[in-house]
Amino acid sequence: MKTQILTVSKNNIEKAARALSENKLVAFPTETVYGLGANALSEEAVKKIFIAKGRPSDNPLIVHISSINILEKLVAEIPLKAKKLMKNFWPGPLTIIFKRKNTVPKIVSAGLETVAIRMPSHKVALNLIEKSKVPVAAPSANLSTKPSPTKAEHVIQDLDNRVDVIIKACKVDVGLESTVIDLTEKTPVILRPGKITREEIEEIIGKVDIKSKNGKEAKSPGMKYKHYSPNAKVILLPRKKMKEIRSHYRGKKVGTITNKSSLEDFGKNIFSKFREMDKREFEIILVELVPEDGLGAAIMNRLKKAASEIILN
Ligand code: TXA
Ligand code: MG
Repeated sequence: MKTQILTVSKNNIEKAARALSENKLVAFPTETVYGLGANALSEEAVKKIFIAKGRPSDNPLIVHISSINILEKLVAEIPLKAKKLMKNFWPGPLTIIFKRKNTVPKIVSAGLETVAIRMPSHKVALNLIEKSKVPVAAPSANLSTKPSPTKAEHVIQDLDNRVDVIIKACKVDVGLESTVIDLTEKTPVILRPGKITREEIEEIIGKVDIKSKNGKEAKSPGMKYKHYSPNAKVILLPRKKMKEIRSHYRGKKVGTITNKSSLEDFGKNIFSKFREMDKREFEIILVELVPEDGLGAAIMNRLKKAASEIILN
């Protein structure tokens, strides 16, 4: 398939929206990472996402919407806590899991009785979804197991000639995928940490649990797969150990990633650094450990999945 690469313009967004409504695949920017979208109401369209990404069919997708009005067509109930979260954090990088209505094909949720919904804040994403007039199922626009795409060139690297349209916009803002929270349980559970932190969420709806390694893991099927992995071996370690560990790998091509300015910048750039270092054929990547609270929880969640070794001190 020949991929059309479109820059951002009114005309091109209309063109891409038309493609979505014709059940074609469109990669588009969001504030978190680039997404690979298809009409969430069409089983045929959604099937194409799994094929293009090489994604296991038991890993459910997030449905993206541009207005709250459509929500009741997709979900069986809207709990009060969801209303509060939506009021505070939508549009934005928060995905909420609801009970699914049958209007959403089973394939979207990989057979689960629930459905994940998010309203992105990126103007291009909102505009595209609105113009397409359909809810848009979209995982990150990378090949399965590759680091999530934070620049259009990453999407082109992974998906050129595998999708119908790629919208080429600027680098994304957050650089880490959305926070995912499940509100179908008595106590809400954060299944994936992201820019909207546990602390911020608890301020609005009270106590939430965090998915633990045992027990709740099965609730977010996506979390069990190898993820975010560069080809190089990733080692997490405190900054003070970098020099010493580097010396163990003399003769190898070793790269380092440290938290130089802020956690925001560190998180924003981590996936693109992984891709860059792969391109330059690094064999080892040493990455600085950061404290696991606030945004640090999201960063460490991704880093731990990419790492084959963690040196604590
Ligand atoms: O920021 C984001 O969320 C990006 C952009 C494109 O919006 N999307 C994204 O999608 O990261 P994806 O498919 O790469 O990750 C979706 C995560 C997976 O871990 C999946 O298992 C989980 O959400 N998920 C989706 N639906 C679910 C459901 N019904 N129950 C539990 N987990 C669900
Ligand atoms: Mg993904």
